[in-house]
Amino acid sequence: MFLKYLISFLLFIHRGALTLLSQPENLTVESVNFQSELYWSPVRNSENVQYTVEYLVNHDSNKGSSEDLWLEIPECSSLRASRCNLTSSFSGLYASINATLRVRAYDGKQDSPWSHSRPFQALFQSLLGPPNVTLSARRNEGWLEVRIRDPFDRSHLSPDLKFRLYYKKEDSDWMVYNDISSFVLIDTFEEGFKYCVKAHYLWRGKLRPNSIPSTPKCAMILESESARSIRIMWVTGLMVCVTLAFVLFGIYMGPKFYDKLKQALRPPLQLPEHLHEFLSGEEQFVQFPASSSSSSEDEPFDEVSLVTIDKEVVLEEPSSTHGHTRS
Ligand SMILES: *[C@@H]1O[C@H](CO)[C@@H](O)[C@H](O)[C@H]1NC(C)=O
Ligand SMILES: *[C@@H]1O[C@H](CO)[C@@H](O)[C@H](O)[C@H]1NC(C)=O
Ligand SMILES: *[C@@H]1O[C@H](CO)[C@@H](O)[C@H](O)[C@H]1NC(C)=O
Ligand SMILES: *[C@@H]1O[C@H](CO)[C@@H](O)[C@H](O)[C@H]1NC(C)=O
Repeated sequence: MFLKYLISFLLFIHRGALTLLSQPENLTVESVNFQSELYWSPVRNSENVQYTVEYLVNHDSNKGSSEDLWLEIPECSSLRASRCNLTSSFSGLYASINATLRVRAYDGKQDSPWSHSRPFQALFQSLLGPPNVTLSARRNEGWLEVRIRDPFDRSHLSPDLKFRLYYKKEDSDWMVYNDISSFVLIDTFEEGFKYCVKAHYLWRGKLRPNSIPSTPKCAMILESESARSIRIMWVTGLMVCVTLAFVLFGIYMGPKFYDKLKQALRPPLQLPEHLHEFLSGEEQFVQFPASSSSSSEDEPFDEVSLVTIDKEVVLEEPSSTHGHTRS
């Protein structure tokens, strides 16, 4: 009977009924670029509270359950703040550790029960990015130089962690260029156009979900010096050829062409009555251009004026002969 009371009394004390130090709550890990922190809701029902954090490495369940071995995080014992910097324990070589974290409060008299986190694995849960893409067009070479830097140290992660490089020409759609590690020279683009690139994180050949892509970077692909001189040579040659062809065409076809033009421009045979009178009355005026054009080299004009005179002569003759016969 006494033993029963004693046990009840001991349990009463053990449960913290006297001090009632509650356990930390809502454990969450925030991890960006392998900088990781554990947060929890602070214990409010006691003063001078300190927190201690420990972690357990989660092994594959099929390996058989070995004894739970909770490890201390040296920086996170006797914490006053309700947060613990996990970076040194879960980055670099340790980024792949799959661990469960636990926190308890202590106020100098009593420990709170442990509070547990969900499994945490920085390698997959850390938000990565955005990568820093620098794009430079190499002058006189017509190349684009792409350089990508991580916002973290990746030395333990390559070659599993890569970038998928996308590109696009001005306003067209994004296309995959290649999967690269950090640096590439692109020389298959058309010169004289603006191109943009962006990079996404890739884990073992697949786009990594928890990642921020780079902001798109754009640059003009300059024409290389050799391509420029070749282009100038081509354009100049073409212009010379076209000019030459035009001149030759002019020399061969010119006279025939002007003949046809002259015929096309010939005035209609049936001139209005008043024009007849005008032309026959002003002989000197009509002949004037004929005499002046004979001195100049303007052949077609010369001929056109002659034609007018011919017709005039034809038109004139009957009237003059009639006049002669009548007089
Ligand atoms: C823990 O989170 C839940 C849900 O977000 C919230 O209702 C609760 O108040 C939090 N606990 C503390 C101690 O802040
Ligand atoms: C981490 O370990 C836990 C417990 O063994 C398991 O449920 C979880 O799937 C593991 N997480 C990853 C990302 O492998
Ligand atoms: C966490 O620790 C790492 C190195 O241990 C340090 O670089 C980083 O600034 C710390 N983060 C905060 C928020 O104090
Ligand atoms: C990206 O890298 C370039 C070159 O090293 C640097 O000048 C620039 O500040 C970086 N940008 C960011 C957002 O880190």
